[in-house]
Amino acid sequence: MPKYGALILAAGKGTRMHSDKPKVLQTLLGEPMLRFVADALRPLFRDAVWTVIGHRADMVRAAFGDEGLHFVVQEEQLGTGHALMQALPALEDAGCTHVLVVNGDTPLLGARLPEMFLRESEQADLSFATITLQDPAAYGRVVRHHGRVVAVVEAKDYDEDLYGPEPKEVNAGLYCLNLAMVRQLLPHLTNANKSGEYYITDLIGLAVENQYTVRGVECGDDPNLFGVNSPVELSRSEALLGLQQVQNLLQSGVILHAAELIRVSPRARIEPGAELYGPCEIYGCSRVARGACIESHCVLRDAVVAEGAVIRSFSHLEKAEVGPGALVGPHARLRPGAVLEARAHVGNFVELKKARLGQGAKANHLSYIGDAEVGEGTNIGAGTITCNYDGTNKHKTVIGPRAFIGSNTALVAPVSVGEQALVGAGSVITKNVPDNTLAVARGRQTNLPRKS
Ligand code: UD1
Ligand code: CA
Repeated sequence: MPKYGALILAAGKGTRMHSDKPKVLQTLLGEPMLRFVADALRPLFRDAVWTVIGHRADMVRAAFGDEGLHFVVQEEQLGTGHALMQALPALEDAGCTHVLVVNGDTPLLGARLPEMFLRESEQADLSFATITLQDPAAYGRVVRHHGRVVAVVEAKDYDEDLYGPEPKEVNAGLYCLNLAMVRQLLPHLTNANKSGEYYITDLIGLAVENQYTVRGVECGDDPNLFGVNSPVELSRSEALLGLQQVQNLLQSGVILHAAELIRVSPRARIEPGAELYGPCEIYGCSRVARGACIESHCVLRDAVVAEGAVIRSFSHLEKAEVGPGALVGPHARLRPGAVLEARAHVGNFVELKKARLGQGAKANHLSYIGDAEVGEGTNIGAGTITCNYDGTNKHKTVIGPRAFIGSNTALVAPVSVGEQALVGAGSVITKNVPDNTLAVARGRQTNLPRKS
C-alpha cells in the first residue's frame, strides 16, 4: 500500500517581492500565503504535511508555530531540488512511499485540485501538473516529443536550438513523486544551469532517461495553479480570491452592497442574512451573525458581531464582541477585549479597550473607556475618560448599573462608581462613589461683578 505525504516548498526568499518578509508570509485577504497552501492539503493529508523553510525561518515558525505543521529547515536555499533533498529523511522516517510536492507560492491551490491530481498520478512514478498560458512568463517550459514529456526546462535555460520553439505549456509546481525513485535520482541532480541551483524540475528529465513512468497532467489555464512571485502576481491572485469569496458569500445568502469592494478573509464566518456595505474589510476569525449590518469603511479583525447589531461607517473593531442589537459608530474604535452586551451603544469617537458595557449601556460621544466594567443601563457622558494608566501599571474602573456619568468626567483608576450614582459634569473622580450618591469633584463657580 502506498503511503502519501505532502511537502510544501517555502524556504525561498522571494527576491522579486522586494520585501524583508519571506514570500510565504505575504498576505492575501489578511492571511499569509502559506496558510492557504497548508489548508488546501490538510483535508487530504491530515498531519502528514511537511513544510521546508529557510529564509527567515524564525518568522515563518512564529506565524505557524501552533498550527501543527511539521517544519524541515533548508539552511542554505540552493534550489527546489535541494529543498526536496532536505525533506527526504523526514518523509521516509514517517513511512511515506510517495510525496505530493507543491510550491508554497501557489495560494489559490484549494483542496479540490490536489485530490484530482493524485487520482491522475496513480499509475506514474513521477507526475506533475501543467498549465498552458498565452504568456509562459518565468515558468518552467514543458518539453514534449510526440506528446510524451521529455523534460522541464527553466525559462532562463531554455534554448530553442536544443528544445525547439518555446511551448506555452508550463510546469505549475505541483508534483507527485515515488520516493524510491527520488532516492535513486537525487544524487544525479546538478546545479550546472543559469541560476546555479539544484532544480526539482530536473528530476523530470532524469526520470524519463531512467525509464520511469512520467506524466504531465494538463490542467488548462487553471488559475488555481498560478504562482506568486511578484507584487503584480500577488495582487492578481488576491483579486481572484476576493472575487471567489464574494461569490461564495452571495451564494450562501449574505446581502452585499458594492460587493466588489468587500474583502472577507476565508477564515471569517458571515451568516446568511447578514448585510455588508462596501468598501469594508473583515479579517481573521471574525463572525457576523444573521441580521447584523456592517456599513461601509469598517475594518473588523477577529471581531464577533451578534444578531441584529449594527456597525456604522468608519468603525474599527479588533478582537471585540458586539452583542445582539448593539449599535456601534460611526467612527468608533473597539480594541481587544471590548465587549458590548445586548443593545449597548457606542457612538462616534469612542474608544473601548478591555472594557465591558452592560446591557443597554451607552457611551455615545468622544470617550475613552479602558480596563473597565460598566453596568447595565448606565450612561457615559460625552468626553468621559477612564484614566487607567499611571505611567507604570494599568488600573480598573468599575461603574455599577443605571449610573450616570456627566460629561467631561475623568475617572482616575482604580476607582468605582456605585449603582444609580450620579457624577457631575467636569468631575475628576479619584475616590469611590457609593450607590445612589451624587458626586461632584470640580472647582465651584463664582460669579463676580464685571469690572467696566
Ligand atoms: C518553479 C519551477 C518552475 C515552475 C514554477 C511554478 C523550479 C526550479 N522551477 O519556478 O518550473 O514553472 O515554480 O510556479 O522549481 N524554494 C525552496 N528552496 C529553495 C528555492 C525555492 O524552498 O532553495 C521554494 C520557494 O519558497 C517557492 C518554491 O520553492 O515557494 C518555488 O520557488 P521559486 O523560486 O518561486 O520557483 P520559480 O522560479 O517560480
Ligand atoms: Ca514561484
